[in-house]
Amino acid sequence: MKLVVLISGRGSNLQAILDAQLPVEIAAVISNRPDAAGLDLARARGIPALPLDHKQYASREAFDNALIEVIDRYQPELVVLAGYLRILGDSFVMHYAGRLMNIHPSLLPSFPGLDTHARALAEGVKIHGCTVHFVTPMLDHGPIIVQAAVAVHSNDTAATLAARVLAAEHRVYPKAIAWFAQGRLLLLDNGQVNLRDDS
Ligand code: GRF
Repeated sequence: MKLVVLISGRGSNLQAILDAQLPVEIAAVISNRPDAAGLDLARARGIPALPLDHKQYASREAFDNALIEVIDRYQPELVVLAGYLRILGDSFVMHYAGRLMNIHPSLLPSFPGLDTHARALAEGVKIHGCTVHFVTPMLDHGPIIVQAAVAVHSNDTAATLAARVLAAEHRVYPKAIAWFAQGRLLLLDNGQVNLRDDS
């Protein structure tokens, strides 16, 4: 199975996906920020690493269309958002319906959007975590594939909590991608995702 990974920054989730040595071909890594460190990770592994600077485009729609054009050159079965920090327009999302995955640093539906760790601390939650989900036009609301929970410690700062959640992200994202590649993710009529038994 071929996948394309979209990043914006350091690419530690990309690194985890690469290290998992999944039976998938990472056909390309694309970053909307040309200086993203994650592009170097891809280059070091001989994977096409493509900067596509959103600032060079007059509108979100123009950028999204350019992004679709680059991605579709590789004909991926799955597009993976791994720390991709730019909102994608509805037509982009619909173009990849059912084959666009994201990881979000909270237990959705709690804390969609930004600053999830600080908000979790401010609410006093005792359990926090991350969610892998299919992307739909409504931000951070798509069908949930897998979640991982971590304990919130009384002395946590947003940074220490983020580090614990990030370690959990690195465990679950490769798993979710492997399940997709194995054809084990079933999208049910009620919009929920079931994991098919592999026996
Ligand atoms: C992760 O916490 C991801 O969930 C979030 O941005 C961070 C990206 O980290 N949306 P990295 O670039 O994969 O290291």
